[in-house]
Amino acid sequence: MKSQKSIKKVVVLGTGGTIAGKASHASDNIGYTAAQVGVAELLAQVPGMVGVLAGHLLVSEQVAQIDSKDMSFAVWQSLLQRVTVHLQAEDVAAVLITHGTDTLEETAFFLHSVLPAALINAKPVVLTCAMRPASSLSPDGPQNLLDAVAVALTPGAHGVMAVCAGSVHAALEVQKSHTYRTDAFSSGDAGPLAWVEESAVRLLRNWPLAPLDQAQIAMNTVVNWPRVEIVMNYAGGSAAVVDALLQPMPGVSPLRGLVVAATGNGTMHQDLEAALRRALQAGVRVLRSTRCAQGRVLTAQHAEFAHSNGLSPVKARVALMLELMEA
Ligand code: SIN
Repeated sequence: MKSQKSIKKVVVLGTGGTIAGKASHASDNIGYTAAQVGVAELLAQVPGMVGVLAGHLLVSEQVAQIDSKDMSFAVWQSLLQRVTVHLQAEDVAAVLITHGTDTLEETAFFLHSVLPAALINAKPVVLTCAMRPASSLSPDGPQNLLDAVAVALTPGAHGVMAVCAGSVHAALEVQKSHTYRTDAFSSGDAGPLAWVEESAVRLLRNWPLAPLDQAQIAMNTVVNWPRVEIVMNYAGGSAAVVDALLQPMPGVSPLRGLVVAATGNGTMHQDLEAALRRALQAGVRVLRSTRCAQGRVLTAQHAEFAHSNGLSPVKARVALMLELMEA
């Protein structure tokens, strides 16, 4: 029996996703509506949770109830605020977040970039999800929730992570890599951070630390996020998309940044490259990333376009938005 002093809370913040989804037939794993079941109900359906909690208290809060394809900056701001409040509480051991798989990597990277280093270097923030709805014949959500709690309560655990299908990924590296399989995430070249096996965590490398250049942004005061778009290079590419984005549009905030998902090792069609130079001249920040799922841009060519430091296009976009906010 734990002493009163060592009993802490594990706080689960619900945001929706397939983990909270429902279909009209248990055999249907794709024709469902995401974000239908409340987080408290999801937690009540996990066999074995009491054992993994080992006396800790599980509490939940519904921060949003959305399909993560519709993730918004407003939800990110609420989430950041709630995660911060809970991490600051002495009686909270860890924060979990249930999230749709589609933009989980962006939310994880956003939180990794903006949560105070002193908090995430001391306590874990674990995002989890599911590829099958809660109504499925064989849902993956309950196991993922159990594994996420096991990770969160592992002594010494800290940093922002994602747990799915028995793998633990760091926010910096996690990327959705499959459209259907339950093991839908990869950490690319870095490989997973840990495995979860029957609630035991086998750590493969150190728990993640906050970045050294943590974004210093008072999120509660941010109203207008800088507009940063992603463009891609492909066969038959042209200047058309970039040139169109540079045009003022009524009711749309002016373009502040562009991330290019370049081909291979950062290469671009000459016409796209010329358009991106025009963007630079117009005062738009340009970051060069790659559309390859693994590896980073290493080439010394196109030095006028800053590279994304190994970040995928979607994460590079988040990083650039935060940088522009700080400027
Ligand atoms: C979502 O991202 O909210 C729906 C898809 C999923 O969770 O797998």
